[in-house]
Amino acid sequence: MVGLTVDSLSVRFTLPDARVAAVSDVSFSLAPGECLALVGESGCGKSVLASALLGFLPGNAEVAGSAMLGPLDLLAASDQVLSQQVRGRQIGLVPQSPAAHLTPVRTARAQLDEALRHLHPAETRPSADEVAKRAGLQPADLDLYPHQLSGGMAQRVATALALAGDPWMIIADEPTTGLDRALVDALVAELRLLVADGRAVLLITHDLAAARRVADRIAVMYAGRLVEVGPAHEVLDSPRHPYARGLVDSLPDRAFTPIRGLPPVLTDLPPGCAFGPRCDRVTAECSDSPQLTVLNGHAVACHNPC
Ligand SMILES: Nc1ncnc2c1ncn2[C@@H]1O[C@H](COP(=O)(O)OP(=O)(O)OP(=O)(O)O)[C@@H](O)[C@H]1O
Ligand code: SF4
Ligand SMILES: [Mg+2]
Repeated sequence: MVGLTVDSLSVRFTLPDARVAAVSDVSFSLAPGECLALVGESGCGKSVLASALLGFLPGNAEVAGSAMLGPLDLLAASDQVLSQQVRGRQIGLVPQSPAAHLTPVRTARAQLDEALRHLHPAETRPSADEVAKRAGLQPADLDLYPHQLSGGMAQRVATALALAGDPWMIIADEPTTGLDRALVDALVAELRLLVADGRAVLLITHDLAAARRVADRIAVMYAGRLVEVGPAHEVLDSPRHPYARGLVDSLPDRAFTPIRGLPPVLTDLPPGCAFGPRCDRVTAECSDSPQLTVLNGHAVACHNPC
């Protein structure tokens, strides 16, 4: 188990009449036995970042930077290498909207069996029931078709599929969306078990409360850039970037004050700091894009941090 080191990752989409700056200059690392939560408003680039790591971007995407998994650069690797060495084997993905990724006419068991056959030789292949149990499912649940699964069960089937190849890293994209409180609690417990078991988890979420319970570190993304990265309790209890502070202050159990204004359009980012038009600490300096600066293990990209 080697860890992941992402350096200056950028993704641009070319549209007929525009270019989308979906991810810009993102750097972070993730070690086995650690959970990093990636948080930020809808459309800020979280899922595109996950797709870039697994080579799932469409043909109109241009990727720059590197994402090293040991000696392998995921961004430069061919589709064949990613599918034979990485997807499912080293990195398992629990996709956003998991039900949409299941084949409707086959039971969960048929789909999990197929994944296990693809990922393991017969002699060392775990049974579908064993893998399902690790994802919090009962064996009988596997005999259901996707339309018979509740949102929480579809989530667990997706988790079982992501765990099928025993990867050291899991990317879970918005796993708590649509789950009630009891299912969120169960999912939080499952993710913590995966981390305790030595796996790395990249948790992509809007749910800061779930992030607090699972993550060791939190990375806050705004308009495709990381604006704050630090220990979870520091980022949530004393956020230093004005956007991160705004996210925390918008929580119902805090000030419950929404951030004023709207996120920028990624085809037409403002010059300098992208948060400038919404920021109450903006000064002349902010017309230069701020870089992430690390102090005591806590990084902030802001000219006037809180
Ligand atoms: N294939 C594509 N072509 C053009 N733009 C795209 C494409 N895929 C994604 N985008 C754009 O990239 C940006 C980031 O999208 P992404 O799906 O990563 O957001 P997100 O942070 O995951 O949002 P959410 O929280 O709603 O899931 C959005 O502006 C989106 O419209
Ligand atoms: S760099 Fe300036 S505009 Fe951007 S968040 Fe910091 S203070 Fe606000
Ligand atoms: Mg998303």
